[in-house]
Amino acid sequence: MTQLSAAQNTPDSSSKALYGGKSNRRITVRDITLAKERGEKWPMLTAYDAMTASVFDEAGIPVMLVGDSAGNCHLGYETTVPVTLDEMTMLSAAVVRGTKRALIVGDLPFGSYQEGPVQALRSATRLVKEAGVGAVKLEGGERSLAQTELLVQSGIPVMSHLGLTPQSVNTMGYRVQGRGDEDAHRLLRDAKAAQDAGAFAVVLELVPAELAAEVTRSLQIPTVGIGAGAECDAQVLVWTDMLGLTGGKMPRFVKQYADLRGVMGEAAKAFAQDVVGGTFPQEEHSVH
Ligand code: KIV
Repeated sequence: MTQLSAAQNTPDSSSKALYGGKSNRRITVRDITLAKERGEKWPMLTAYDAMTASVFDEAGIPVMLVGDSAGNCHLGYETTVPVTLDEMTMLSAAVVRGTKRALIVGDLPFGSYQEGPVQALRSATRLVKEAGVGAVKLEGGERSLAQTELLVQSGIPVMSHLGLTPQSVNTMGYRVQGRGDEDAHRLLRDAKAAQDAGAFAVVLELVPAELAAEVTRSLQIPTVGIGAGAECDAQVLVWTDMLGLTGGKMPRFVKQYADLRGVMGEAAKAFAQDVVGGTFPQEEHSVH
């Protein structure tokens, strides 16, 4: 495998790089596989609506996840558990419509695949046919093996999700996963099982950095880290956290790149004051 230097892994319009490379077509899971072979790191962001997704697409984000984090970050639920397949289909379709280049991965929500492979295929088929996603994500390694196998055999690329799996919040809580030898071995086994079942990538959420590095070295498919250290092949953040819209205390692994909550709040106040004070609209905003 060719390892890229940091300089080679920066935007270059003549390269095939996932981020910064030249491509006017949609990125596919094959491009993701080739990026791992090149030793290239890549970014992934969540998106839940067409307009936000179009901004990230224009910024060159190569992979967008319509995560069921939409439950907390877009739909006002407390957890991801209540999110429905109808909601994920509607949000995924909007993100697909707002993008031209990114690979769009649609999350299978809680209750849409746990019954077994046939239910998983029915649910994933909706996301592919009705929303137009290029791949789906589901939580669990060995426990979702049969689902992953059937989806992949049926032509639907699968991203698997290990470590902290928020759909299991009622049994697992929100805790670091893979601490201690037994848990670490289980996570490694899960990751290999996902790969063997045909998954094209594995999300590792809230996993010790050393373990995530070991998983990354052990797999031929890329790892996508969130709170899993710097050695993962890719990194994902929830966009409302990354841009400072979420509000409240952020997990330690979030880096906030902007303060959208502040910007939007100030703009809303300025608009309200203009209306109350009679300074908006002015002549240039009026039609005659
Ligand atoms: O739903 C989601 O946004 C996710 C990411 C945190 C990986 O699963």
